[in-house]
Amino acid sequence: MSPAQSPSPTQSPSPAQAASVLDPITVRGVRFRNRIVISPMQQYAGTAEGMPTDWHTRHLSAYAVGGAGLVFTEALGICPEGRLTWGDIGAWEDRQIAPLARLAEAIAAHGAVPGAQINHAGRKGSVQRPWHGFNPMSDADVALRGEHPWPTVSASAIPANPGWPTPQEISRDEIQVSLDQFAAAARRVREAGFEALNIHGAHGYLIHSFLSPLSNTRQDEYGGSLENRMRYALQVADAARSEWPADKPIFFRLSCVDDADGGWTLDETVALSRAFADHGVDVVDCSSGGLGRRTTTAVVRREPGYQVPYAERVRRDTGLRTMAVGLIRDPRLAESIVAEGRADFVAIGREALFNPHWPAQAAVALRGPEAFEEWPPAYGWWLKVRSRTLAVSEAAAE
Ligand SMILES: Cc1cc2nc3c(=O)[nH]c(=O)nc-3n(C[C@H](O)[C@H](O)[C@H](O)COP(=O)(O)O)c2cc1C
Repeated sequence: MSPAQSPSPTQSPSPAQAASVLDPITVRGVRFRNRIVISPMQQYAGTAEGMPTDWHTRHLSAYAVGGAGLVFTEALGICPEGRLTWGDIGAWEDRQIAPLARLAEAIAAHGAVPGAQINHAGRKGSVQRPWHGFNPMSDADVALRGEHPWPTVSASAIPANPGWPTPQEISRDEIQVSLDQFAAAARRVREAGFEALNIHGAHGYLIHSFLSPLSNTRQDEYGGSLENRMRYALQVADAARSEWPADKPIFFRLSCVDDADGGWTLDETVALSRAFADHGVDVVDCSSGGLGRRTTTAVVRREPGYQVPYAERVRRDTGLRTMAVGLIRDPRLAESIVAEGRADFVAIGREALFNPHWPAQAAVALRGPEAFEEWPPAYGWWLKVRSRTLAVSEAAAE
């Protein structure tokens, strides 16, 4: 049995071994100091050549200082046209390895595991940055910013949204090229020193466009039956695993349900996750929606932990580890998700933008001021002293 197929590293612990979100966890050969993850978040701050900038170093190292167990980079394009915007960074050429290595070092220097996400944006590529409208680029973007639109590909020639450019149906030869690009991107982030890989199969990008019957009407072996629609995702997992060390984990992000009737379902997510176990995937990263519009719609009502039921179901039905994400802000919610065996990892996105120290603060909320000892001493020593001062002052005020 190959390391990619070995069952032991991918099995979830039994409920009897209920854990805390603050407990360390080891997947394959990688130990995470806790189970709090910074979810991938694009910054649209790269150079036109897809290189990271000082902003990315600052952004990612802050989360490692802030106590997260695992910090993922934003989606790295596997090819220039696999980006969303001209501000996206990538892993499509070897020149990107050295700057990516600086990001991995910046994260690891503060005790977090450095993770990288790789992606092909498919038919949702060639858009403006969010604050420029997040719409497909046009001549106006050329005039205003010198940024040209590019042709996109997808599973089928169906636009992501009404009025958007129609992507080209990706050919079998181009599929093979993209698989090679996923493999090469995995190699580059490995060489850059990242220790966890996240394959972006969610939010309407190229992989997701194959999974959903709403965006995949192909007549060949990649379309129609569930087995056919899953084929590309599994091939991407194999391609990435071929370049990713056997002692390092792969996370696979899925939109566990689509944001429209007739789309990809949770039962299909479970079927794909079962298949993942034989394709070297260790953790299913459970997101949702985004097939067309950028956000989930009313199908998935947004409330704290709204996607946790997906992580719970996948974990229960497949035995694979899962990661929960989506409006998780209360440390007690994060703790209950792990303690109740609903997910193995809890990821935070926007809350980390608001408060990069959220993981360290969650530790204090759950374990008391002693947890300040786990902060970098330059902060933690002072904050622990302050907590005693505050306790005295609060007692005097009563
Ligand atoms: C600024 C921003 C950029 C994002 N970029 C990515 C990305 O590159 N890859 C990805 O899988 N998800 C991306 N997401 C989605 C987040 O990873 C996360 O799943 C989502 O924000 C929900 O979690 P939250 O409620 O904790 O923010 C992004 C979200 C935000 C706010």
